[in-house]
Amino acid sequence: MKAIRVPKEKAEEVRKVAERSSAKDKRRLVVCRGDYVEIPIYDGFEHLFSYEIVEQENPVFAKSKDLFGILKKRIPENLHNLIPRRYKIIGDLILVKIAEELENYKSLIGETLLEIHPHCKAVWRDMGKKGMLRRPEVELIAGEGSETVHRENGCLFKLDVTKVMFSPGNLAERMRMAKLGKGEVVIDMFAGIGYFSIPMCVHSRPEKVYSIEINPDSYKFLLENIKLNHVDRIVPILGDSMFVIPENIEVDRVIMGHIRCHEFIPAAIRALREGIIHYHESVPEAVINRPVERIKRAARDEGREVKILNFRKVKNYSPGVIHVVVDARIC
Ligand SMILES: C[S@@+](CC[C@H](N)C(=O)[O-])C[C@H]1O[C@@H](n2cnc3c(N)ncnc32)[C@H](O)[C@@H]1O
Repeated sequence: MKAIRVPKEKAEEVRKVAERSSAKDKRRLVVCRGDYVEIPIYDGFEHLFSYEIVEQENPVFAKSKDLFGILKKRIPENLHNLIPRRYKIIGDLILVKIAEELENYKSLIGETLLEIHPHCKAVWRDMGKKGMLRRPEVELIAGEGSETVHRENGCLFKLDVTKVMFSPGNLAERMRMAKLGKGEVVIDMFAGIGYFSIPMCVHSRPEKVYSIEINPDSYKFLLENIKLNHVDRIVPILGDSMFVIPENIEVDRVIMGHIRCHEFIPAAIRALREGIIHYHESVPEAVINRPVERIKRAARDEGREVKILNFRKVKNYSPGVIHVVVDARIC
């Protein structure tokens, strides 16, 4: 879906031209991105404008087409509180969580979402992720197709939603990682399809990123994404990061992007002579210090010093549980 990218001060003028020429895509809102504004247009109108035309990432859709507003007329009133308010758009696929009580309405929900987002080809019911491999449990409820290419922050992520997860909620953290690592040797211990390795290589030019992934399905997409994004500094490794971290390399940074990976902290510490760990964990708010304590304890056991640099929330994980990331310097 295309948009005209114009400096803020020109936005109003260009928007009017787009409206008058029927080029403006009415389904999407004009969005502000830093000093620029993106004005959504329909395909085929690009030649009318002398400004940059971009493929729009994360478009914002007009409110009149909200799912609840449409479905409340089609679903009995006693179920209204269960109508999904949120859903994820990954490339041209939609993932939506649906309560069991709405089982009989799942196709209706899927078809309605396709009406709202005509550029999407299928809707999948999201039933969570399983085990250490974070394998998605999904069910097709409308349309067809499970493979897509998600565009984000100047990177392309090819994936199959039936085989690997993608969490749009981690966008801010992926963007933060994209700014780090310049000139460094990095180990991405839970690389997946390249969630952190790809943005880092696209935007920061690290010396090398060793991207370790245990699941052959994710690894296959990691290889494809390396090619798609034309990055040549990733060394993909298929295996268990507990055992396959390369030896005899000087590592500056270790990314531990798995929310249940505390058992791997000692291995990450051993990989670093001096450097930074980005450690993720899903933690109940009642024991919010647990991730920091785990890092400190592991460092002590390894006879190393540690300085906690940063503690940030990535997103809400479940009621009372948050996904956090701790940056720690190991000396
Ligand atoms: C899905 S990612 C986490 C999501 C990511 N942080 C994001 O931004 O969306 C976690 C990955 O770690 C992989 N994994 C799990 N255990 C592993 C291990 N022991 N060694 C290497 N990779 C592992 C899983 O297969 C999965 O692809």
